[in-house]
Amino acid sequence: MIGRLNHVGVATPSIAESVALYRDVLGATRITETKAMPEQGVYVCFVDLPNSQIELIEPLGEDSPLVGFLKANPRGGQHHICFEVEDIIAARDDMRAKGATVLGTGEPRIGAHGTPVIFVHPKNMGGVLVELMETPKEAHS
Ligand code: CO
Repeated sequence: MIGRLNHVGVATPSIAESVALYRDVLGATRITETKAMPEQGVYVCFVDLPNSQIELIEPLGEDSPLVGFLKANPRGGQHHICFEVEDIIAARDDMRAKGATVLGTGEPRIGAHGTPVIFVHPKNMGGVLVELMETPKEAHS
C-alpha cells in the first residue's frame, strides 16, 4: 500500500539555522529556497538527499500547527514521515476503514510538492505522525 519514503519532516524554530546545519555540518549540497505556505501555517524548505528529502518546517503565524510542537520541543525535532501512495482518496478511505483517524476534515490538501496529502493521527501509527502523499506524476528529480 505505502510506497517510497518521500521525506522526513523536521520542525525547527529557524529554517536558516537548520539549513546551516544540514549544509555546513552534514554537507548537504542541494537545498531549496524557503517558501511560505500560509494555508498550512508553515515555512518549508527541502534538503535533497540521494534517496529522499528532509522537509524543514518553521511556524508561520501564531495559529501554526507547529507552535505546540515547538513549545514541547524548543530546539525542534522530527515531526512526521511522509510515504507516497498512488491514490490519496483510496488511501484515506483505507485508513478510515482500518480505524485510523485522518486529521482535519479528511479532505486532501495540496502539499509542498503540489500533490494532495493527508495526515494520519500518531495514536494509530505507533506514535508517529504519518503524512500520505500522492506520488508526483512527473519523474523524481
Ligand atoms: Co511533509
